[in-house]
Amino acid sequence: MENIALRVEELLSKMTVREKIGQLNQPETPTEKTIEEFKALVRKGEVGSILMSVGATAGNDAQGAISNEFYNEIQRIAVEESPNGIPILFGRDVIHGHHTVFPIPLGMAASFNDELVKKSYSDIASEASAESVHWTFTPMLDLARDPRWGRIIEGTGEDPYVGARVAESVVKGLQGENLSDKGNMIACAKHYIGYGASEGGRDYHRTEITDYSLFNYYLPAFRSAVKAGVKTVMSSFNDISGQPITSSSYYLTDILRGKLGFDGFVVSDYDAVIQLKKQGVARDNADCAKMALNAGLDMDMHDFCYLDNLEKLIESGEVSEETLNESVRRILTVKMEKGLFENPYCYGGEYDKIVHLKDAEDLATESIVLLKNENNLLPLSKSANISLVGPYATEKRSLLGSWCIDGKTDGMDNLLDIMRKTCEGKLYYSCGYGLGWDSSAKNSYLSDVVVMALGESWSCTGEARAVSDISLPPEQIALIKKIKSTGKKIVGILFCGRPIAMQEISDDLDAIIYAWHPGSCGAQAVCNVLFGDVSPSGKLPVTLPKLATHIPLYYNVTSSGRPVNCYYNENPANCYVDSVPTPCYPFGFGLSYTEFKYGETKIDNDKISLDEVLNGKKIKVSVSLENIGDFDAKETVQIYLRTPVAKWMRPLRELKGYQKVSLNKGEKTEIIFEIGAEELGYYSPQGEFIVEKGIREIYVGENCLIENKKEITIC
Ligand code: BGC
Repeated sequence: MENIALRVEELLSKMTVREKIGQLNQPETPTEKTIEEFKALVRKGEVGSILMSVGATAGNDAQGAISNEFYNEIQRIAVEESPNGIPILFGRDVIHGHHTVFPIPLGMAASFNDELVKKSYSDIASEASAESVHWTFTPMLDLARDPRWGRIIEGTGEDPYVGARVAESVVKGLQGENLSDKGNMIACAKHYIGYGASEGGRDYHRTEITDYSLFNYYLPAFRSAVKAGVKTVMSSFNDISGQPITSSSYYLTDILRGKLGFDGFVVSDYDAVIQLKKQGVARDNADCAKMALNAGLDMDMHDFCYLDNLEKLIESGEVSEETLNESVRRILTVKMEKGLFENPYCYGGEYDKIVHLKDAEDLATESIVLLKNENNLLPLSKSANISLVGPYATEKRSLLGSWCIDGKTDGMDNLLDIMRKTCEGKLYYSCGYGLGWDSSAKNSYLSDVVVMALGESWSCTGEARAVSDISLPPEQIALIKKIKSTGKKIVGILFCGRPIAMQEISDDLDAIIYAWHPGSCGAQAVCNVLFGDVSPSGKLPVTLPKLATHIPLYYNVTSSGRPVNCYYNENPANCYVDSVPTPCYPFGFGLSYTEFKYGETKIDNDKISLDEVLNGKKIKVSVSLENIGDFDAKETVQIYLRTPVAKWMRPLRELKGYQKVSLNKGEKTEIIFEIGAEELGYYSPQGEFIVEKGIREIYVGENCLIENKKEITIC
């Protein structure tokens, strides 16, 4: 490390101001037309990094811009012909898979399987780094409570603790033990900060987040990414209460570096520097560049605002050369840590595609949440006569999800393909919506059970893809009603990117499998669960509301003076007069084919002194778990805490730990959680971590609504 610091200083001392600014410049991959101009920039040392994409389309289109030959040639120019031979960092949006596509991140979060998430990101890193990608703009850690926001699919849902655990797995999976080893990639925690709170779920909109909420809800995932060693952070497009993050030294420097201890570099979001004008805080481009760099934003994505303006600003003293040096230092340090100076070129790489597909299938299988299983309709027998209906039976692209710029549907199976291979009885298939008196109804009469493949298109999710109504499309609801009228039992498979409103469909469906947008092997994963080869084990990382009008609805809400919160049935009468906003399926919820018996929650001590807590003593909370059903299965045991009296109002429940365990039928185990200061405290609005004396309620079980309370006192 020290060595790197010395090398950085030595290099920095040889660079002109213009070359230094070049390190801060991240243009995107040139088109044929602009390629010579681009090479000239590289030759002058004016390109620090390349966003590997052409006309970045916010993850909504497949992207070319992958060619080892091209990037090696650009790198050769940088290394051999630019003044100081500094290699270029190539960055791409490899969000939930490269060629092998894993479930959307919200689905991954539902797996509650940290190891598998980590392994998957290590697979992703090896695939992408074999194609010149050094750096990926993931994980996306934006806490989101509004499912209308299209980008909710890219994050981990409504819970800061889940966000923190996933952040650690993704960063460690991508960056590996040693970042410079072949097959590892630099991670980027984004979008810092508060982007998921965009008003009305409308992308890029303003946000209002108090510092109390910021420290306790929005920052924990970033804090965890920093702790896991994330090398880069992307600042977000939004403002918080009138302060654009792009130009905020409070958020980018005081909090990110000061409070969280981040020491890598910050990249802007796409064109965000120049957008400071549109946000109404900068007069011209020079103003934009000055404000962003002075705030602590090191690298400028796409808009050339730094390259075009910083030299003059340094000459005039509006930006100090030391501020510029500091940003260059951070970028060069990460390049050295990545080993770019020793290994600037990509010669491809080998990976086992079969293993990656298997991991993608396993993760998709574990992400599936079984929401309903009336009279144990599932699993289906492979010899049953089944009617398969609905628009997603033959769909492939939506299974891949948004932000999948390198995944292909060629060679991929859809649900019908896999069911054809799996079913031993008769399989009747009716395509599309089948809304007339047609084969879908006729086939339903002929079969023992109807499987309906439903959901939302990938194109309604992702960046700039907010929706105003989170219900299933009316045609699908009509189709459910029509099939229901045949009197047959219905299994609904929901391929959704976001939480959807469930009330209208949950009564009509006898069994419900929430499959998300599950990736390359998603259809196989669904059949693994549908036919009982694997017992479902996913749990909801977000609440599924009854009605779209009930949002925002999230489990970690605070109480109020006159109880209005219906999540825990506090007082439904005080809520809306026309409906009761209890969740249709709460946070942490997910059924299994087996039955798990939880023992009584035990604590090794119901009193602990504050001094002991602050000195690292922990309370042991344990519970026995027995698989008393007929399936080998996995269960995610969750522990929630509540502080009934504190200086600042605390949530009615907060997830503070989870363990996913695998138990064969008849097997029993003991789950132990250790609760210490980290779990017992919270942040003041000033960002101080405080642990207060008083009572803590502890709940251990299968979702956030469990009631088997134990109490401890911190005295
Ligand atoms: C998105 C980022 C993405 C960047 C580069 C932006 O529009 O907000 O998440 O990494 O584009 O494609």
